[in-house]
Amino acid sequence: MKVHKWSEEQVKSAKKPNYSKLYVIAPALMNLIGDVKNKKILEIGCGDGYWLRILNKKGARCTGFDISKKQIKSAESENKEKEIKYFVADGSEEINLENNSFDVILLEHVILEISELSKIKKIFKQTQKLLKENGFLIVGDIHPFAPETNFPNVEVEKEYNYFKSGFPFKIVSKKPDGSVTRYTDFHWTVQDLINSITETGLKITKILEPTPNKKTVEKYPYLKYRENKPLAIMIKAQK
Ligand SMILES: C[S@@+](CC[C@H](N)C(=O)[O-])C[C@H]1O[C@@H](n2cnc3c(N)ncnc32)[C@H](O)[C@@H]1O
Repeated sequence: MKVHKWSEEQVKSAKKPNYSKLYVIAPALMNLIGDVKNKKILEIGCGDGYWLRILNKKGARCTGFDISKKQIKSAESENKEKEIKYFVADGSEEINLENNSFDVILLEHVILEISELSKIKKIFKQTQKLLKENGFLIVGDIHPFAPETNFPNVEVEKEYNYFKSGFPFKIVSKKPDGSVTRYTDFHWTVQDLINSITETGLKITKILEPTPNKKTVEKYPYLKYRENKPLAIMIKAQK
């Protein structure tokens, strides 16, 4: 399987959240998750643990794993109290965690890094097993329409068309300190995402297409480019 390989430089850069994470994704995600006090939360593809640190501070009991050893090392470096459990694993393989044991599972900007639909389906199947009855999954990802939209930070080659599932494209991630990191990711259509989730038996209860509000754009004019176009999608699905 081709996975986006995390270089030392990208891991270091990911420690600084970008505009999107800070001002668009965070409010939408916290709104979707709701009260997390004493909830058992698993993040698949947790990266450096950015979301789990926030959720842990809000009283959740957090576990995270990632396919990248470098990302988990980075997460552990900020986990001195060992309040969050981290380990290295591939979410599309059998994971040594108890079935029916999590209230919430989070997959935030992970699917776009996976180049095979069969692997994506395996991750969702595993998610369904690990969730408690009435537990829910939250998937945040690049919006399937984003490569169509001429965003300044999404680069596609001319051979791209919407129905080419798995087609690679580039994302340019811009940070408030002016630094920029580039990633190669993979395009998935609406039917790829939605059907892979519902085929597991999970029921989609909400879809958000978060954009920055007027106040946020006034404060951070860089975000104007995505005020009226969809760059992100968030899907909540219940067991
Ligand atoms: C863009 S980062 C997002 C990290 C984190 N979710 C966040 O939002 O801060 C995507 C992460 O997914 C991980 N990843 C990709 N494929 C994976 C897989 N099959 N299993 C587990 N982690 C995976 C990558 O190594 C990377 O750390």
